[in-house]
Amino acid sequence: MHCTRKVLDDLIWVGVDDRRVACFEGVYDIPDGVSYNSYVLLDEKTVVLDTVDKAVYQTYFENIEYALNGRELDYLVVHHMEPDHAYVIEALLVRYPNIKLVCNDKIAVMLKNFFRGVDFADKLVIVKEGDTMCFGRHTLTFVSAPMVHWPEVMMSYDLTDKILFSADAFGTFGALNGRLFNDEADFFNENLDEARRYYTNIVGKYGPQVQAVLKKAAGLELKYICPLHGFVWRSDFERILEKYLKWSSYTPEENSVMLAYASIYGHTENAASILAVKLVERGVKVRMFDVSVTDSSHVVANAFRCSHLIFAAPTYNAGIFIKMEELLHDIVNHNLQNRKVALMENGSWAPAAGKLMRDMLSKLKGIEFIGETVSVKSSLAEDQLAQLDAIADAIAAEIGR
Ligand code: FEO
Repeated sequence: MHCTRKVLDDLIWVGVDDRRVACFEGVYDIPDGVSYNSYVLLDEKTVVLDTVDKAVYQTYFENIEYALNGRELDYLVVHHMEPDHAYVIEALLVRYPNIKLVCNDKIAVMLKNFFRGVDFADKLVIVKEGDTMCFGRHTLTFVSAPMVHWPEVMMSYDLTDKILFSADAFGTFGALNGRLFNDEADFFNENLDEARRYYTNIVGKYGPQVQAVLKKAAGLELKYICPLHGFVWRSDFERILEKYLKWSSYTPEENSVMLAYASIYGHTENAASILAVKLVERGVKVRMFDVSVTDSSHVVANAFRCSHLIFAAPTYNAGIFIKMEELLHDIVNHNLQNRKVALMENGSWAPAAGKLMRDMLSKLKGIEFIGETVSVKSSLAEDQLAQLDAIADAIAAEIGR
């Protein structure tokens, strides 16, 4: 049975929630699910904007059929070829064989690569930046958004009703659960964590490209932002744009500490906990994570959030304990920049994690290390408390009360 919502009388959300997928893209923990958004524009011509993941195809096609209410489908606009939005294009073509696909030339290549059995001859309308298409009352103009977050991505802007169809940008993890718009009471504070986790993990690597798109968006009058995941934005544009400016420029959102530790038998955790106490006693806000327990997507998001980062890890097989090594790879791959970093290692006979962690993080721009690495031998020694005090003092001097 169909399950749709109106964005406007002639713009219908036909997306579907997925609450069964535990791990988005096989990587990111999504306990609250995710929505795959797609929209039907009912004008003199009918237009579908993007499709959905294969996991939800049945309800999706029921939604399209219901939204069209017996009308033919004329166009599919494809903004992004990642299969969570494009998997069912071939199935859509089977149901609506006369549709034209509106896309750019990079998307055209990917369509042929993903759907090798489909003959796209005479089906494609190739557009480029600044082109417009009129569907009746609505006219869309196309905006290229390369690397946000695949190279082919484009957005479109409805000149009539001032709607930005923003592809992955401005998306949020979490199923919609019947909601659609972002303007419920206290929406921003309640959903910011998942918007941040979505942005930083999915798009975070591509800050300069996001900045380029934000410059284009700054010139647009916005009444709605319709992303491919999560809520339709129709208020609070300044607040979310301000966050995007911070995240994409690798500027911390807050003066605080993200303390991520790995600990095999608890001694590194103990040292990290003592340092956390010293920081909190000095008025510093600390967000602390055991990287063996917390999915790295949450830790990466908080690394983008906080001004100061502390990493504490045991040495393991002469390297960095694997969970911490994975986290640091993730942070390096997401291109985080401009952070102050303190390090703590543990090694019962041959500590090596500190140097290796420093080497990894040194690849990032704007990383400044605070003092020497604290090197714990099995368990924290009494005379090492002064070194923890020194780190806490240095951080508190910058961001404490
Ligand atoms: Fe939601 Fe880049 O796909």
